[in-house]
Amino acid sequence: MNQLANTWQQLFVNVNIATMTQGGTSYAVIEDGAIAVSDGKIVWLGNKQNLPEYDACQLTIIDGQGKWLTPGLIDCHTHIVYGGHRAKEFEMRLQGASYEDIANNGGGIVSTVKATRAASEDELYVSAYQRLSALHKEGVTSIEIKSGYGLDLDTEIKMLKVANRLSENLPVTVSKTFLGAHALPLEYKDDADGYITLVTEQMIPEIARQNLADAVDVFCEGIGFSYAQTERVFQAAKAHNIRVKVHAEQLSDLGGTELAAKYNALSSDHLEFLSTAGVNAMQSSGMVAVLLPGAFYFLRETKLPPIDLLRENNVRIAIATDANPGSSPINSIQLMLNMACTLFRLTPTEALAGVTCNAARALGIDDKVGELSVGMDADIALWDIEQPAQLCYQFGVNPLVALYKQGKKVI
Ligand code: NIG
Ligand code: FE
Repeated sequence: MNQLANTWQQLFVNVNIATMTQGGTSYAVIEDGAIAVSDGKIVWLGNKQNLPEYDACQLTIIDGQGKWLTPGLIDCHTHIVYGGHRAKEFEMRLQGASYEDIANNGGGIVSTVKATRAASEDELYVSAYQRLSALHKEGVTSIEIKSGYGLDLDTEIKMLKVANRLSENLPVTVSKTFLGAHALPLEYKDDADGYITLVTEQMIPEIARQNLADAVDVFCEGIGFSYAQTERVFQAAKAHNIRVKVHAEQLSDLGGTELAAKYNALSSDHLEFLSTAGVNAMQSSGMVAVLLPGAFYFLRETKLPPIDLLRENNVRIAIATDANPGSSPINSIQLMLNMACTLFRLTPTEALAGVTCNAARALGIDDKVGELSVGMDADIALWDIEQPAQLCYQFGVNPLVALYKQGKKVI
């Protein structure tokens, strides 16, 4: 008996595997494959013909009956912790008001801030749990959750603690992002620079001290913060050794992506108005372009991100829900796969890479998750499909058969 196979605890057989090891250029398929798992990690994978001899009595065999395995899905940009909802604003937009009009008149993000400040930690936890459960049932095993609806230290901390609690109670890895510079709170209405001082001198140091954030994000936009203010936040993050990322070029081009590239950002997200200079900066810095088709759809945007240019420059593209109450109240990663193809004309291969390997890279966790290869966590989804493109093609019937988190069956 093979020595290595002695240590195996689980073995997936009779499966086709989209390993997603090639960053979106192919599914990197292994047909009629097998995956062996030990201590929650992938220890062998390959074609069934090459399987070493193993003792079937010593391990759990999972017969995939010819179905498909992919990495567990990763939603790398969400705002799922918040109070209230914005259905009224949705109605106003249907009557002609723009997202920016609403934000400039005290609605938008600031109205969610009011509801989030008023909610208890338990209330926020219960509503966010429902949203995360919905994503998890669609195959999500890792997620990013941002703060940014508190805009005061206590509420920002309350949100990040809710994100921690979610990770303790659901089998989903949570990356936490501090987004204090999301909008200007009413108490700083005419003093954006003063608010940024609060973010940089009080919030970031305290959040770093409590180890509550894996990254720091800024909304660099006309209705958010300027280039100079964004840079102040990045400097504070850098001083505390926290990686940065940016909401940029969503409604206009302020050069936020180029700035983020200078700070070795993980990703730049939205990008409808990204310039050629921005694409070049992404290419040389290796940042991931996170595209958010749900916000594009829900805000009825018409300007597409420069997808051909991103492709030509080999910028990695991730796809995420941006689940939030204002611009994307959509808690479905499967719908994003479909929209990435229909709205942004991504290929199904690119879309699937966008919620696996490239999403992992956008979170800086690509050494553990996002592809199926030896040494990675056994975060594995089993799908009742005949080819991977079905994950993008159809929406509304969930083809997830089983989900494994670090080798443990969780669905
Ligand atoms: O990613 N752009 C800024 N933040 C969110 C919207 C948040 C909201 O409207 O509540 C976004 O689209
Ligand atoms: Fe967002």
